[in-house]
Amino acid sequence: MLPGMSAPPAEGARVAWPDVPAPARAAIEEACGAAVIEARTQPGGFSPGVAARVRCADGRRWFIKAASAERNPDAPRLHRREARVLAGLDPLIAAGQLPVPRLRGTAELGPWFALVVEDVEGRPPALPWHDDQLGRVLGALGRLAGALTPAPAAVAATAPGIAEYLEEDFSGWRTLAAGDDRVHDLDSWSRARLPELAALEATWAAHAAGDTLLHADIRADNLLIAGDAVVVVDWPHACRGAAFVDLVLFAPSVAMQGGPEPAELLARSGAGREVSREALAPVVCALAGYFTASALAPPPPGLPTLRRFQAAQGEVTRRWLAALL
Ligand SMILES: Nc1ncnc2c1ncn2[C@@H]1O[C@H](COP(=O)(O)OP(=O)(O)OP(=O)(O)O)[C@@H](O)[C@H]1O
Ligand SMILES: [Mg+2]
Repeated sequence: MLPGMSAPPAEGARVAWPDVPAPARAAIEEACGAAVIEARTQPGGFSPGVAARVRCADGRRWFIKAASAERNPDAPRLHRREARVLAGLDPLIAAGQLPVPRLRGTAELGPWFALVVEDVEGRPPALPWHDDQLGRVLGALGRLAGALTPAPAAVAATAPGIAEYLEEDFSGWRTLAAGDDRVHDLDSWSRARLPELAALEATWAAHAAGDTLLHADIRADNLLIAGDAVVVVDWPHACRGAAFVDLVLFAPSVAMQGGPEPAELLARSGAGREVSREALAPVVCALAGYFTASALAPPPPGLPTLRRFQAAQGEVTRRWLAALL
């Protein structure tokens, strides 16, 4: 982390379990198999809804993630996607081949959609990053990529390719170059190089293509350290691409949260060491454009803290890109 730069927390605006309307709570409890008697809201992450570890009347524990389309139309859609991914991965998870919690069930009532997932008795990695935990995470991500290459058929059938999935997000420089209003708020480095950045960004998709099922949102708040295991949660963005892309997407948050700079992080992982500069630069460029343009947009409904988090990662990613160019 740069001196004087404190990382904004990866936290959004949660809904507490008792604030969910009673009929929706009842539907979720049915998916749990018993009434919820204790719910502890989990801070890490941005989804504008419930994220709680619960204990039920039958003594069992679950993790509940629930959202209403009335608060944010996108949140239940993402939860639905996540349910589909977890269901597709379930045979591999059940066989102990993936460090991912199993899906128990889903519930739907009116605008509400909920996932009920196996509870992981663990904690997010300590921040600022500790080198030993980061090493364990990188090891786990390497094994995860191995187990998800080629992408398991049950998920590959519905998971989009990364080019399609990130097409809109990864067009930030081109949008700015086309005369978007946000161009006036750009930092001077970006403004001076905008045409070059837009041209390089346009080539990212071919370099990111691949046959690995990516998580596409690896960050400290989507990891849990549980004893000796590193568990990967929050799968709505799973898509097919090259294994190194998950490291690229993870790297800016690591530097922002007190870990090594992106280049050093990639050097510590197999997929990161193997990728050529020619493949890496366009993908880093597209990610920098995403963070830079998003951070300058108004906050999405129900996610008041997201833009600051993106701005901080944008700074790291532009620095990485400048070194690659
Ligand atoms: N199965 C689980 N068991 C225990 N704790 C969990 C589990 N899954 C997630 N958590 C904790 O809850 C937090 C929020 O969960 P998650 O990351 O799935 O949601 P989110 O980031 O808010 O959602 P989304 O990205 O879908 O908008 C995580 O940071 C993690 O600390
Ligand atoms: Mg999360």
